[in-house]
Amino acid sequence: MAEPSSCPLGRPLPDGIVPEEVVARTEKRWIMIMAAMLLVMMAIVVLTGITGAMHPSSNVEVIDPTTLHLKGEFVESNLGTAVEPDGSVTVRIIAEQYEFVPRCVQVPVGTAVKFRLTSADVVHGFLLPDTNVNTMVVPGFVAEVRTRFAKAGEYAMPCHEFCGLGHHAMWARVQVVSKERFANPTSAERTSCATQ
Ligand code: CUA
Repeated sequence: MAEPSSCPLGRPLPDGIVPEEVVARTEKRWIMIMAAMLLVMMAIVVLTGITGAMHPSSNVEVIDPTTLHLKGEFVESNLGTAVEPDGSVTVRIIAEQYEFVPRCVQVPVGTAVKFRLTSADVVHGFLLPDTNVNTMVVPGFVAEVRTRFAKAGEYAMPCHEFCGLGHHAMWARVQVVSKERFANPTSAERTSCATQ
């Protein structure tokens, strides 16, 4: 056969079959694009790490993780659920190896709820399945997430950011109760779901 062809048997390729060189060229091109994307992403991770620009995606609010228990809004007596003058609810939680403090919070159904979290040590994760609540909890920052629970029930709250050997055991609960059942609790009751 005089006619040059990419088919190993020397026959012309049937319609719709792409010659080998074209496939190889396209694959090489895509590998280059993938490698470039990887390099850009790695560069972003390294640069943000070096410049200290890593923070929760929700907002940028700094806090000193070494004095959480001594002063400011995350002192022990201020943790848990609090009712604001406008009727909305604010929940303050500290994440630390390997627990959330408090381990259970109660909020009313159909009410604006604002979660404010911070970490005392390493990066943790705060996630409520089937809701819009999902954030990293980074030491040195306050993560804030707003939501509204449509129906009563109990939500498991697993830490979803690997934080060490006890990561798998780190989880807490959010109990959503009716407005009637929810009453502004005393500071002692706030930190426990056991008291109603
Ligand atoms: Cu905390 Cu994983």
